[in-house]
Amino acid sequence: MNQDELKQRVAAEALRYVVKDAPVGVGSGSTVNFFIDALAALKHAIPGAVAASEASAARLRQHGIPVLELNDVDELPVYVDGADEITEHLAMIKGGGGALTREKIIAAVAKRFVCIADASKLVPVLGRFPLPVEVIPMARSYVGRELRKLGGQPALRTGFRTDNGNLILDCSGMSLLDPVKTESELNQIAGVVTNGIFARRPADVLLLGEKTGVRTLGGAKLR
Ligand code: 5RP
Repeated sequence: MNQDELKQRVAAEALRYVVKDAPVGVGSGSTVNFFIDALAALKHAIPGAVAASEASAARLRQHGIPVLELNDVDELPVYVDGADEITEHLAMIKGGGGALTREKIIAAVAKRFVCIADASKLVPVLGRFPLPVEVIPMARSYVGRELRKLGGQPALRTGFRTDNGNLILDCSGMSLLDPVKTESELNQIAGVVTNGIFARRPADVLLLGEKTGVRTLGGAKLR
C-alpha cells in the first residue's frame, strides 16, 4: 500500500467523526484533499464546511459542499486536518502548506480535532520538519534574528504568500522538547502571526494510516 492509499484510508475513516446536521471544519493539504473527496458522499447530511485554506474551499465547492464562514458558525463539533509531524501525545507541527494560522483558529473553535496522517508523520519528538512561522512582511528580518537567538535557522519560503498575505519563515534546528513552552514563546515575538507548533491545543484523536490498517490514538473510539 503506497502513501496515497494510506492517506485515503484515514480520510475515509474520519467520515465516522462527522456529526450529522452540523458543520465540519476542514484543514488543508494532500491528506485533507482525500477527506474532502470522501466528504462529498455526506454532503446532504451536513449544512456545509469551514475551510482552512482557499484551496480547500475551492475543492469543497467543486464537490458542491457549501463553504461556511467561521464567523457564521456557533459551534463546530469536529475539525479534520493533517499534520507534518505528530507525537503520541498528539502535539503537532503543521503549516507545510502554509495554512497554519487559519488551521489554528479553526482548531481552537472545534470541540474535537481529528488528525489524519500516514505512518510517516508519527515521530518521537517534534522538530525534524522545519517549523513554519507566519510573519507580517515588515517584521521578516527582525523575527529571523529573534529565531536565531533561540537556536533556529530560519529560511524564507521563497515566492510564497499565505492566504492572509503574509510570509513564512521555515525554521530548522530549534529544540522542541517542550513544545507547549516554545509555542507560547514564539507567539511573543512581535510580528509573528502564528507558529506551526500545535501543542497548546493538540489533536484529540489521531487516525494513523499503517500498512496493517488504521490505528486510532487518543480520544474515545466511536461506537
Ligand atoms: C498545511 C498543513 C497540512 O496539514 C500538513 O502540511 C500536512 O499536509 P499533507 O497531508 O499534504 O502531508 O498543516 O498547512
